[in-house]
Amino acid sequence: MAEEGADCRLECINCKAAYALSDTRYQCECGGMLDALHDLTALRGKVSRELFASRLGAKELPYSSGVWRYGELILPIEDKFIVSRPEGNTNLYRRRNLSAWVGVENMALKHEGENPTGSFKDRGMTVGVTQAKALGCKVVACASTGNTSSSLAAYGALGGLEVLVFVPQGKISLGKLSQTLAYGATTLEVRGSFDTAMRLVREVCARYGVYLLNSVNPLRIEGQKSTVIELLQQLNWEVPDWIVLPAGNLGNVSAFGKALHELKELGLIDRLPRLAAIQAHGANPFWQSFVDDFQRRVRITTPETVATAIRIGNPVSYEKAIRGLRWTEGVAAEVTDEEIMEAKARVDAAGIGCEPASASSVAGARKLAQEGVIKRGDMVVGILTGHILKDPETTIAYHQGGLVGVSSRQANRPIVIEPTLQAVEKILEVKL
Ligand code: F0G
Repeated sequence: MAEEGADCRLECINCKAAYALSDTRYQCECGGMLDALHDLTALRGKVSRELFASRLGAKELPYSSGVWRYGELILPIEDKFIVSRPEGNTNLYRRRNLSAWVGVENMALKHEGENPTGSFKDRGMTVGVTQAKALGCKVVACASTGNTSSSLAAYGALGGLEVLVFVPQGKISLGKLSQTLAYGATTLEVRGSFDTAMRLVREVCARYGVYLLNSVNPLRIEGQKSTVIELLQQLNWEVPDWIVLPAGNLGNVSAFGKALHELKELGLIDRLPRLAAIQAHGANPFWQSFVDDFQRRVRITTPETVATAIRIGNPVSYEKAIRGLRWTEGVAAEVTDEEIMEAKARVDAAGIGCEPASASSVAGARKLAQEGVIKRGDMVVGILTGHILKDPETTIAYHQGGLVGVSSRQANRPIVIEPTLQAVEKILEVKL
């Protein structure tokens, strides 16, 4: 791969001030967010569908990774720095009963929970941690609702870095807390919300020169672009009408928007799908701003949803996410906890499975189809962002009818029996 920095720099999305890619800053002097900006003119002659096709099936890094396969579009860097499990190569699933429930004829679900630590975060983290290594950083940090911290803990360990994570105390799922601890991260449980933890980690990184690996870091966004590039390659570059995804801190919406914009500029696709960013009703600041045509930035002080991954009131990538929707004529929508959990139960029972926040994409697609925004004949891709085992407490509570404010219409209750054949027979008579 090309040498670092050859064709890539940081640029402010507002005032267009430029910085070197090696500059460890996450904001412009003017306060604007930073993009990793590729020289698309130079790339036009270098990348093609054929080039990416030739790398499919590679057994060795970097091209065995569903991120580094598209390295020219992500981060030009020497292979020796790459820290990879590898990640990506996630499957697309089609289930007729799920599409019918959503109300469309053609829906596919891309399962980002199949990444090494069980969420899409690995796509951004391989790039962020690789850059940390290349820059010679020793300590990396993030705030997290649990998936980012699990991913950073794993990739940091792989890269031999010290990892510091800030999570809202008592507000992340057991699966994610256990991963974060097990991979060896120093784990600070902050008394406060995710947004409070986010503010704190930014202060800590600024003061102590620790490398910040939340999605305010533009290289995380570069890595997450690969979801869309890989998806389009899987679809033989046939562009869907919609890509529907959960929205919390808004990193993924930002990444998808940037990926699509660049792919079109590069001539790899000839039209854009529309993005649909789905929020939980109790944590819906982006949706509130969207319905107001982004006239004002809404912040929520006490976000609340069963989908802990997206329990976020002040998303950091707000401006980039607006840009992503504008580029793609995208929309935002909100869904209730009940709708999220019913969609999850259906995705799970279809044999696919996902964590609660992920199911908001399916619930959101259904809602948009009911509203007529998504048409019956539209081709829809939903993104499942996390693995079914990430949040067993919520899954069990749902199936036992114990989630406050959620009626468990798809419950599959466990049945306690005496250890006798008669007891089993009684159940089988009903079931079979
Ligand atoms: N789905 C899952 C499973 C997530 O973990 C997250 C975010 C999202 C969706 C939302 O993505 O933030 O890019 O809009 N989780 C972060 C974390 C906040 O700390 O793990 P986003």
